[in-house]
Amino acid sequence: MKVKEAIEKRWSPRAFSNQMIEKQTLKNLLQEAGSAASCFNEQPWHFIVGVKGTETYQKIYDTLVSFNQDWAKTAPVLMLAVSVNEFSKNAKPNPHHRYDLGQSVGFLSLRAMEENIYLHQMAGFDADLAKEKFKMADQAEAVAAIALGHLGDSNQLNDDLKEQESPESPRKPLEDFVFEGEWGKAF
Ligand SMILES: Cc1cc2nc3c(=O)[nH]c(=O)nc-3n(C[C@H](O)[C@H](O)[C@H](O)COP(=O)(O)O)c2cc1C
Repeated sequence: MKVKEAIEKRWSPRAFSNQMIEKQTLKNLLQEAGSAASCFNEQPWHFIVGVKGTETYQKIYDTLVSFNQDWAKTAPVLMLAVSVNEFSKNAKPNPHHRYDLGQSVGFLSLRAMEENIYLHQMAGFDADLAKEKFKMADQAEAVAAIALGHLGDSNQLNDDLKEQESPESPRKPLEDFVFEGEWGKAF
């Protein structure tokens, strides 16, 4: 699959099928997510992976806000995307750690398309609770939760969410976000 195709195919479903994902597949995808660029090659990203039926899955699920719990329960895998906020070489703050984590998750979401695996990232979770539950290092910040799996049937969702379930999300036109000369002047 070409990258362009993966970009066009990707969207964030809320209905997942109960098809499990092999541990080795997850490891391969995450290894490749770890190939993203990062400031000073710090690779600040970390992932906590919970496969359905495990204690880790339940712990991640328990950190989600109830809106997300309502649909994420169908996902065969839940993850926490975590980044470390200081450089390992000198313990100075790394202001780019979340930027780098985001690139890594971007790689993950596109590479997953080749396996027909979809991600749904979530800000709606309790990062402090996640930190506590997983005894994270002081410098670790839980930035996002991620539900991951194959596409499911939207009939699993409540009526509101069923209506929103769509591969097409509106996007801003280029002139709204690509500038030249001065801020707001379209390229
Ligand atoms: C950082 C981040 C946080 C998000 N948080 C949530 C969330 O808590 N709950 C949810 O249902 N969707 C969440 N989303 C999904 C977005 O709403 C979705 O990506 C956006 O509407 C664009 O749709 P698309 O991914 O299908 O293209 C989040 C996405 C990102 C990247």
